[in-house]
Amino acid sequence: MQVSVIVLAAGQGTRMNSDLPKVLHHVAAAPLLHHALSVAQALEPSRIVTVIGHGGEAVAASATAFNEAVETVVQDPQAGTAHAVAQAAPLLSDAPGEAIVLYADTPLIREETLRGMLEARAKHAVVILGFHARDPGRYGRLLTDGDQLLAIREFKDATPEERAITLCNSGVVCAEAKLLFSLIAEVKNDNAAQEYYLTDIVELARKRGLSAGVVLCDEAETLGVNTRAQLAEAEAAFQARARAEALDNGVTLTAPETVFFGLDTYVGRDAIIGPNVLFGPGVTVESGAEIKGFCHLEGCHISRGATVGPFARLRPGAELAEDVHVGNFVEIKNAILDEGVKVGHLTYLGDAHVGEFTNIGAGTVTCNYDGVMKHRTTIGKRAFIGSDTMLVAPVTVGDGALTASGSVITEDVPAEAIAIGRARQVTKAGLATRMFERLKAIKAVKAKGI
Ligand code: UD1
Ligand code: CA
Repeated sequence: MQVSVIVLAAGQGTRMNSDLPKVLHHVAAAPLLHHALSVAQALEPSRIVTVIGHGGEAVAASATAFNEAVETVVQDPQAGTAHAVAQAAPLLSDAPGEAIVLYADTPLIREETLRGMLEARAKHAVVILGFHARDPGRYGRLLTDGDQLLAIREFKDATPEERAITLCNSGVVCAEAKLLFSLIAEVKNDNAAQEYYLTDIVELARKRGLSAGVVLCDEAETLGVNTRAQLAEAEAAFQARARAEALDNGVTLTAPETVFFGLDTYVGRDAIIGPNVLFGPGVTVESGAEIKGFCHLEGCHISRGATVGPFARLRPGAELAEDVHVGNFVEIKNAILDEGVKVGHLTYLGDAHVGEFTNIGAGTVTCNYDGVMKHRTTIGKRAFIGSDTMLVAPVTVGDGALTASGSVITEDVPAEAIAIGRARQVTKAGLATRMFERLKAIKAVKAKGI
């Protein structure tokens, strides 16, 4: 079945009280827009078209960053949800198959729900996603008769009786693409807001003798973000769902309520995640890896059998091969650690490659930045980097080589060599005792006030 998805993202979002367009605010380390695009993409659609308006350039850039195949059309002025969909007509009005309309400010809709709507198309020409609202507030109300949806009444236009209805409109619509655009073309703006309402297509379809119906979902799925409070609510709802899914997938979470997942976090079966772990974008944790408490991870890949933390920070480009051990207070950025590498304590590795089974001593730093440019550090296999080694990049340490602790390594170290780059030690017999006696004598004289 062919599907096209239209994502509405042109609205201003005044109630966010922000310079940032609403749909670029983050939930689960990703813009709201990416949540909608991500569920859209899960349907393997032939096209995704995002309607942009307010903050258009930034929103378009974010859509393309998600996937270059996402197309954008501009809506200016923003004259309502039907008017927004109409902007996609030049791209989609002849599209074969189904069209689904999503709102970029509604981040929690699930793929299964959309598939349910596509299935319901067998019974109805127009399918609307509805939900029973605990507090229906300003949502559009669904007027039904048995399994038929008669109309959607916007709050502003509803009578007191209609406002008492708790069955509400999520905004998600599914219909054959050609039908959707032909209905949209008939929508007028003779309502309280003088806007072109997408919701009017229900009555227009029924006038043509077509059937409209409702698919129901949980209220939690349709949470729309209009305020910062709702943004925080959406974050909480996303995390609750992601934690439950991780547990179902065979991941151990010691304290699930303290772990924060990203929209695209992947954690394999039998991985163990300790308390207070935060996943930014782009993290993959393979089966059986362990992330101990208080780690902050983004843009990294952690292979089977690796252990990370507690208190480790993995930044974009950190690649940990199998059985790597990264310990406490270690930061890794844009660095590949081959199998079995150990970086136990208090270390920074940036722009580096470390060969298999190499041991990095405590307090090691790759000095990768000269104030202007970044430089690489390459360390071979089975090397031993002594504690407190400063590796001044660009620099290479060969296979099986050793750096003495406290060394500042500014020149390449050949394989199997020892490099010592520190001041030589001087030892003076008995000097400590003599010095302390002298200092005590000075203190005693001062105490007498002479
Ligand atoms: C809409 C529905 C309402 C439903 C509610 C669910 C209509 C007329 N009303 O109301 O029935 O209960 O969503 O959350 O559809 N947008 C544009 N261009 C526009 C206007 C809006 O792109 O000209 C986008 C917004 O960016 C947003 C979405 O459409 O992503 C919804 O717009 P919004 O103004 O929030 O609609 P509601 O008043 O909430
Ligand atoms: Ca809304």
